[in-house]
Amino acid sequence: MKILVTGGAGFIGSHLCERLLEEGNKVISIDNFDDFYDFRIKIKNIFEIFKKKDKYSEFLEEMEKKSLDKKEILREVEKFFYCDSYRIYYEDIRDSESMEKIFQKERPELIINLAGLAGVRPSIERAKEYIDVNIQGFINLLELCKKYNIKKVIQASSSSVYGNNKKVPFEESDNVDFQISPYAGTKKSCEVLGYIYHHLYNIDMIQLRFFTVFGERQRPDLAIHKFIKAIREDKEIQMYGDGSSARDYTYVGDIVQGIEGSINYLLKNKEVYEIINLGNSNTISLKEMISTIEKLMDKKGNVKEYPKQSGDVDITFANINKARRLINYDPKTEFEEGVRKFIRWSEI
Ligand SMILES: NC(=O)c1ccc[n+]([C@@H]2O[C@H](COP(=O)([O-])OP(=O)(O)OC[C@H]3O[C@@H](n4cnc5c(N)ncnc54)[C@H](O)[C@@H]3O)[C@@H](O)[C@H]2O)c1
Repeated sequence: MKILVTGGAGFIGSHLCERLLEEGNKVISIDNFDDFYDFRIKIKNIFEIFKKKDKYSEFLEEMEKKSLDKKEILREVEKFFYCDSYRIYYEDIRDSESMEKIFQKERPELIINLAGLAGVRPSIERAKEYIDVNIQGFINLLELCKKYNIKKVIQASSSSVYGNNKKVPFEESDNVDFQISPYAGTKKSCEVLGYIYHHLYNIDMIQLRFFTVFGERQRPDLAIHKFIKAIREDKEIQMYGDGSSARDYTYVGDIVQGIEGSINYLLKNKEVYEIINLGNSNTISLKEMISTIEKLMDKKGNVKEYPKQSGDVDITFANINKARRLINYDPKTEFEEGVRKFIRWSEI
């Protein structure tokens, strides 16, 4: 089937596109290659989708020789990868006109919205931008779904909507009225708006609450990636708080399996609106995370403690019974194994 993936050049998006293509789908990917982190990393992600990581440097060198700017490079990327089963469009999901042209031309059957500004801490400084991208972007897509009669949508939500929930593990039926960062607020808003579009226009929708995703191609701003780089380069590891905060780390391959399960569920059922946790249902403290990395790299990190950051929750911990029951979600990669895979990937 023809699936439109927004944020398709990002960390989770590129893994998802890879799997969807392997399974014979047509993938329309949209990404504005924003500067939240280096846009070249996202180009590299696309090369990895096609198992052409080795060709990436060659491609970039050629672009540099021609002295192309970012926009021109990305137009070249669009052309380079354009084929029957895959297209990458360098566009912004907030841009109604350009997005409509893509919807008109491509007529996707299902939308998976992973595009957005991620990250809790930067959202405190850049609240307006987060609201603009994450909420306006999503509404723009929903309006196009309405206009082009697209009835199946998956939206990336986040464990951060639980705020500092005291009851663990977090269940979908828990009260989520108390987010503690603008980022989390945008994700909660998209859950609310998603239900409204489902109710008004019969759009079947699943909102997936991802719990701290890690693995190959993980964003460079995320802790595991940062810490491994710091150890390798003999730099300081900044540990916020006393190391007791804990996260339910979820391997990206398991997340992709959960998204695929959601696609199947949407295709088999009508009148769907579901919110589903995708976690590993196992917590790892910050201290344990650091010691696992040290063990696997066989090198001690230079850890320095800093005050806890506002916006950061103390713990995330997913109850995944609903995901197991509805979408046959079955996370398989343990934390240590996932970190080992990341380290191996980052060495080459
Ligand atoms: N990684 C996690 O641990 C995690 C946890 C919970 C939720 N999420 C959500 O999952 C989604 C994917 O996250 P990720 O970790 O892969 O992040 P990412 O930053 O690697 O991917 C997001 C992609 O969206 C693109 N993008 C941003 N604004 C855009 C816009 N206006 N138009 C088009 N594209 C745009 C970016 O260029 C990027 O490639 C995000 O919505 C994020 O909030 C991620």
